[in-house]
Amino acid sequence: MHTIIEPFRIKSVEPIYFTSHAERLEILKEAHYNPFLIRARDVIIDLLTDSGTSAMSSEQWAGVMRGDESYAGSDSFFRFEKIVNEITGMPYIIPTHQGRASEKILFSTVGATGKYVLSNTLFDTTRANVEFAGAQGVDLRCAESKDPDTIAPFKGNMDTAALQAFIDEHGAEQVSMVIITVTNNSGGGQPVSMANIGAVKAICKSYNIPLFIDACRFAENAYFIKLREPGYGTKSILQIAHELFSYADGCTMSAKKDAFANIGGFLAMRDGQLAEKCRNLLIITEGFLTYGGLAGRDLEAVAIGLREVMNEDYLKYRVRSIQYIGEKLDAFGIPYVKPTGGHAIYLDAGRFMDHIPVHHYPGQALCCALYLEGGIRGVEIGSVMFGKYAADGSLIAPPIELVRLAIPRRVYTQSHIDYVAEVIAAVYQKRHGFGGYRITYEPPMLRHFTARFEPLQ
Ligand code: F0G
Repeated sequence: MHTIIEPFRIKSVEPIYFTSHAERLEILKEAHYNPFLIRARDVIIDLLTDSGTSAMSSEQWAGVMRGDESYAGSDSFFRFEKIVNEITGMPYIIPTHQGRASEKILFSTVGATGKYVLSNTLFDTTRANVEFAGAQGVDLRCAESKDPDTIAPFKGNMDTAALQAFIDEHGAEQVSMVIITVTNNSGGGQPVSMANIGAVKAICKSYNIPLFIDACRFAENAYFIKLREPGYGTKSILQIAHELFSYADGCTMSAKKDAFANIGGFLAMRDGQLAEKCRNLLIITEGFLTYGGLAGRDLEAVAIGLREVMNEDYLKYRVRSIQYIGEKLDAFGIPYVKPTGGHAIYLDAGRFMDHIPVHHYPGQALCCALYLEGGIRGVEIGSVMFGKYAADGSLIAPPIELVRLAIPRRVYTQSHIDYVAEVIAAVYQKRHGFGGYRITYEPPMLRHFTARFEPLQ
């Protein structure tokens, strides 16, 4: 078989600025050893996120010019509404400026206060919005997702037995909603099967609990279903996505991921009364019904991106390019979450930096080491992001320490990725030379964004 190549040509390029090791030492120190605080031009390969960092297509840029900037009833909105309806089958479609705006509106409206929101895994902004609405988020991950080495086709699945047990114990009236994240971002970018979504729906339906989908990476998830779930091999991505959404009462979406847009999102649902409440809040916080927090040109770019992302040549390349990194790491025995998922590689920082205890933040140490070695920026998903403090001030660590290297869509070529693998391997070979960190400043919520660190000697 021939190499699976990038299914695009490059028409417009951006320079990468190179820095020396000595310069990076200084830059990292000035950024308080937090990659979020490094200036983007000081990064060689930026794998901080796949969100809003995609390369838009020439069609999307043409759409930007075509954008109808009318305050009300813009043509761009109707093109956007049409494709979202085709994919989700949902009649009420509410544009927002990004995913967390959809979450804020949804959780402030559904009456979540004092209740639980259950999930396969809530993304960090989703959990923050659940908590901000006075509810408690609970992750019920499937057993096979807990070991990074276990190879299973759908490690993003929700544990349906745990869902049933939770409802039995707390009562259905205490559960505000169930929300399934596809693919499961904080759980390793792993997909959720159609069978699992169907089984969750059946439980929700019997208790009248609404089921929502956090749909950021719906097309990548649909492609994994096509590849791995019996009965879906000959179906189109649109058909699979449509079926996936058919189980849900609504969805939140960040168009910054699987719509190749630099900004955008939406909230879609089947319940007209809930939609009316959401729209009332939309007008106060985002904007009028037909633009949400977006310009007409953004709606146009999202509408076009949603069609492009369902192209199977693109999805084949996308999934293969992530798998390719995994194969490179395997050659060095470097630990990461297996199998590779849809949008990122998740290094197992706890094992990679096995000489650094969790309260010295091995994930943060790995992030800093990757930057120093090769100017690569990733994000810690471990004790910095999810750690909590016990009453005595000691750290309560999450089950696993990860570093996510998210791959922006259509941005980097195979040689960029080869370079990334070389840098990871170089850091792995000298890993015992890197020490841990201590936090010198942290905000009360979502601390990973702005926390400051100091290396331990
Ligand atoms: N849900 C999931 C699963 C996400 O991955 C994100 C964002 C959001 C919701 C929120 O969307 O950023 O448009 O407000 N994830 C980015 C990331 C930030 O890096 O994974 P948003």
